[in-house]
Amino acid sequence: MFSFCLFTKIQKNRNIHVQHYVRPEIIAMNGYVPGEQPKAGQQYVKLNTNENPYRASEKVYDAIRQAAALGVSRYPDPVGTAVRMAVSKKFNIDPDSVLCGNGSDDLLTILTRTFVGSGELLRLPYPTYILYRSLAEIQGADSESVSFNSDWTLPDTFFAATSKLRLVFLPNPNSPSGTVIPKSRILEIAEHLSCPLVVDEAYADFAEEHCIDLVEKCDKIIVCRTLSKSYALAGLRFGYLVASPKWVAQMMKVKDSYNCDSLAIAAATAAIGDDDWLTENRTKIMATRTRLTEQMRRFGFDVPTSHANFTWNTRKDISLKPIYDFLKNHGILVRYMDYPQWGEGLRISVGTEEQIDQCLNLIEKFLIEKL
Ligand SMILES: Cc1ncc(COP(=O)(O)O)c(C=O)c1O
Repeated sequence: MFSFCLFTKIQKNRNIHVQHYVRPEIIAMNGYVPGEQPKAGQQYVKLNTNENPYRASEKVYDAIRQAAALGVSRYPDPVGTAVRMAVSKKFNIDPDSVLCGNGSDDLLTILTRTFVGSGELLRLPYPTYILYRSLAEIQGADSESVSFNSDWTLPDTFFAATSKLRLVFLPNPNSPSGTVIPKSRILEIAEHLSCPLVVDEAYADFAEEHCIDLVEKCDKIIVCRTLSKSYALAGLRFGYLVASPKWVAQMMKVKDSYNCDSLAIAAATAAIGDDDWLTENRTKIMATRTRLTEQMRRFGFDVPTSHANFTWNTRKDISLKPIYDFLKNHGILVRYMDYPQWGEGLRISVGTEEQIDQCLNLIEKFLIEKL
């Protein structure tokens, strides 16, 4: 009898309506779907999520080994002081203007939670990094997409101030295009806006300029960085942002108490301190990017000049999904994207020279055989 009652109780609990308890905003949203990650045992050349194809600095691996030898039984430094000092030294800025995150996605979440409440407005360009919209949805906030012009410049409506607007995200370089908005224009945008402007510089190490020094000039500018791309540390999860200390102090209240673990803090500190590795790596990636761009253009694709570690390849005369499928069937993953009202494209991450040769050879084969 007792066990029967317990059984019916468990059954009842299983039947609890998701709709009744989960916030309607969460029920309504689709959720962000990250780029495909091959399962264990699947061998792909991965050119789909803009990871760095090279091994990170050996100083990073030494730092991880040393930190691991100290053990992980204690909580880490809640604010990642060593990283804040390294960033402060690198850019000659106040360490109190630096906030560490468990990848820059964590920082983008902290930013949205800090600035954008339910029913308020977040602005982003279009097409861009899809996660921004999901972050607004989680908050129960509205998001407003302002379409790039066809040459990837931004219309003036991007900096129109409105009363509900609380935060603006601008990835620079943008994904998927790899294009940049000049620094002078970013300052102009920020000065017109009534709210903070987050310049997401996930790919800025592959570009010619960055906006970290603008933070001191205009306190509405917040710059977000990741170590996933230019430092070859996507598996580690580390990012940081630079903002006026008055914003950082508020975001400290929102972040998880220990959002970065002790191994990641040690590794990130070593990575940020190794400028020689960074220079050598970005030089290699940028050279391969030029070769990839030129060859894709020769193949008949439109490829905007990229300032990131990927290229955005479009063609009006043929459908691109079959090329994606062909590459995948031959062991190469690229990113196929089809943006409503904008169009489709193949985003190809810059791999090693050999990986890019392999990818280009297959695309050429496809174009010869299938067209
Ligand atoms: C524009 C942009 N911002 C942020 C990120 C997230 O980087 P992280 O690995 O640090 O979370 C990505 C990842 O692809 C990105 O494309």
